[in-house]
Amino acid sequence: MPQAKAAVLRRANAPMTIETIDVGPVAPGDVLVRIKAASLCHTDLEAMEGAIAINLPAVLGHEASGEIAEVGRDVTDLAQGDRVVLSWNPHCGSCFYCERAQPILCRTFLANGPKGFHFDGKPRLTCDAAPMHQLMYLGGFAEYCVVPAQAAIRVPDTMPFDRAALIGCGVMTGVGAATRVAALRWGDVAMVIGCGAVGLSAIQGCVLAGAGSIIAVDPNPARRQLAQAIGATHACDPAEAIDLAKSLTDNRGADVIIEAAGRPETFRQSAEAVRPGGQIVWLGKVSVNDEVPFRWGSLMQEKRIVRSSYGGAKPAQDFPMLARAYLDGKLKLDEMISARIGLEQINEGFAALKRGETVRSVVMFP
Ligand SMILES: NC(=O)c1ccc[n+]([C@@H]2O[C@H](COP(=O)([O-])OP(=O)(O)OC[C@H]3O[C@@H](n4cnc5c(N)ncnc54)[C@H](O)[C@@H]3O)[C@@H](O)[C@H]2O)c1
Ligand SMILES: [Zn+2]
Ligand SMILES: [Zn+2]
Repeated sequence: MPQAKAAVLRRANAPMTIETIDVGPVAPGDVLVRIKAASLCHTDLEAMEGAIAINLPAVLGHEASGEIAEVGRDVTDLAQGDRVVLSWNPHCGSCFYCERAQPILCRTFLANGPKGFHFDGKPRLTCDAAPMHQLMYLGGFAEYCVVPAQAAIRVPDTMPFDRAALIGCGVMTGVGAATRVAALRWGDVAMVIGCGAVGLSAIQGCVLAGAGSIIAVDPNPARRQLAQAIGATHACDPAEAIDLAKSLTDNRGADVIIEAAGRPETFRQSAEAVRPGGQIVWLGKVSVNDEVPFRWGSLMQEKRIVRSSYGGAKPAQDFPMLARAYLDGKLKLDEMISARIGLEQINEGFAALKRGETVRSVVMFP
């Protein structure tokens, strides 16, 4: 089995260290992936800061693309050399939730995720013979990783690796929020609160779903400019959001709101700015034990609120469609890459993400 250079998180709130790890074994249902690009998402940052429960030491990275280097003996639908985007939602296919087409709630997935090993409870990575955990069954910040075959989704060979990586989390979550979760209708007035990678992708999902107007809300003027460049018809500071939504809707409020900032005030604003009977999709998160107060009246009048993980992703269907949309010029991904970096620069990359300077930095592998 190969050795790989990897960024390893040994302690929360400490920098990752670049180490050489041993990758494998490849169980019958696994694939070995040679990682070519892995982008830095907010969720990795939360794991680094200890806000997400995961056993350490671990290799983080859950927005990644690469090439199949080896397939387990039971894997029939992937072959060496296939170009893949990684999905972070492997699921058992037969539990209460999988039977109800809610794989994101799969009991096996949720039970094993924090342990940082695969469904069989065994590690696939070691360092000096000690087990190493994988964030969200992946561990993309390494030259190689072993993942369940269903977590490696084939995309066209012409899809560039760096842009392919973005599809695996932020793009899928944002686009899916509009196309799969929000039930957005042609001509709707949509509002997206927060214009990071997830919100910018939600804006594009609104475009693809046929929204009439798309209001981008962000305190950062550079983010508002980017939002308008990729499809928002209006953009404003949070202080103006509710008035703008009302001015475009005969005082009703937006038909659909997608929240992608993860702050108490943005959850509250979504409830204030949506129309009676409208739809809110929350994508952002605060700490699980935080309380978020609402004005009760803002929640009344048949409003529907969903908090979605992964935007209703159906990776096997959606990843190839999203790649195709990029290749056909219908999905803009180039604009979301702020920097391409080496693995050694990963800690600075996360510091820049935290400061709000980058939409996505992508670690490029040789
Ligand atoms: N639901 C999921 O599956 C999923 C997946 C990935 C990320 N996330 C979450 O989605 C959120 C966004 O992720 P990201 O990677 O795009 O983050 P990001 O930090 O790149 O973007 C957040 C944006 O929100 C803006 N913002 C800050 N305060 C605001 C306010 N009051 N009103 C409007 N905008 C405001 C920031 O300027 C920034 O542009 C995070 O909370 C992240 O944890 C959820
Ligand atoms: Zn299941
Ligand atoms: Zn993510």
